[in-house]
Amino acid sequence: MPKPAVLATHVLFPAAQQILNASCEVHYWTQPERIPRDELLRRVKDKEGMVCLLTEKVNEELLNAAPKLRIAANIAVGFDNIDVAVCTRHGVAATNTPGVLDETTADFAWTLLMAVARRLGEGEALARSGTWKGWDLDQLVGTDVWGKTLGIVGFGRIGRAVARRASGFQMKVIYADALRAPEAVEKELHAAYRDMDALLVEADFITVHVPLLPETRGLFNYATLSRMKPTAFLINTARGPVVEEAALAKALESGKIAGAALDVFENEPQIHPGLKRPNVVLAPHIASASIETRTKMACIAAENVVALFNGKCPPNILNPEVLKAG
Ligand code: DGY
Repeated sequence: MPKPAVLATHVLFPAAQQILNASCEVHYWTQPERIPRDELLRRVKDKEGMVCLLTEKVNEELLNAAPKLRIAANIAVGFDNIDVAVCTRHGVAATNTPGVLDETTADFAWTLLMAVARRLGEGEALARSGTWKGWDLDQLVGTDVWGKTLGIVGFGRIGRAVARRASGFQMKVIYADALRAPEAVEKELHAAYRDMDALLVEADFITVHVPLLPETRGLFNYATLSRMKPTAFLINTARGPVVEEAALAKALESGKIAGAALDVFENEPQIHPGLKRPNVVLAPHIASASIETRTKMACIAAENVVALFNGKCPPNILNPEVLKAG
């Protein structure tokens, strides 16, 4: 029996390749640049499976070009690049990689939070510049993190992992979410529920952990940013379009907030020029980028594909109804 043909739009880590290659005939995109759209549409034509990245849109156009496709396995927990409803209509299973990146992403949210509060970007640039004149009393004075109020927007797995780290900093933790967490979770994490408006005015640091949905797109706009304290900082490791970049640039310019630290952007890899300011820490979408975590993510995507071709339900299927229909 021939192995099912699978397109992997990126070379995978060896452990993931091993899983996938054992059951599938895998065609890897091996070029250093991301696969061009026309090339992707051409290569997916005769494939039954696809392992893809969040930079590839899995939409009507792609599914029309891939009549044999049975699974699109995203190597990311966020799946706003996949039109799940359209996949379902085409009978294609869509999967993501939840769970394995929570702690790594939470670590990085803290990395950004600390960096912006303590002006690490500016300090690093000065230390490397050759112009540093030595210790000075008021040089690059930042803001304390410990003892402040941390506002977490989106209290799912990653938001909770961020909250867990706050106790070491003796912070007060408040959170906003469409769904209030169970009392036991609030107790364990010493986190208090607030509605969004109350959180905006109370928090010293606001860290964003919501998925990109119609209701969260533009959640941080000029009006909401203006509700924040002028001493407060915004950290975003979720999805770029949750924050309107032009509005954020304006809020920073006019002193509505003190600073921001961003790992994700509205139109990656473009970054609004108004955000390239000293009080903004910028990172190129690397919150989950530890070798351990990225390897696990790739392995999970591979396992989802293999499960489907072995007649099993992929563990992280987003549209289980496609299997019932078959
Ligand atoms: C995700 O998984 O959604 C991240 O943005 C990349 O790890």
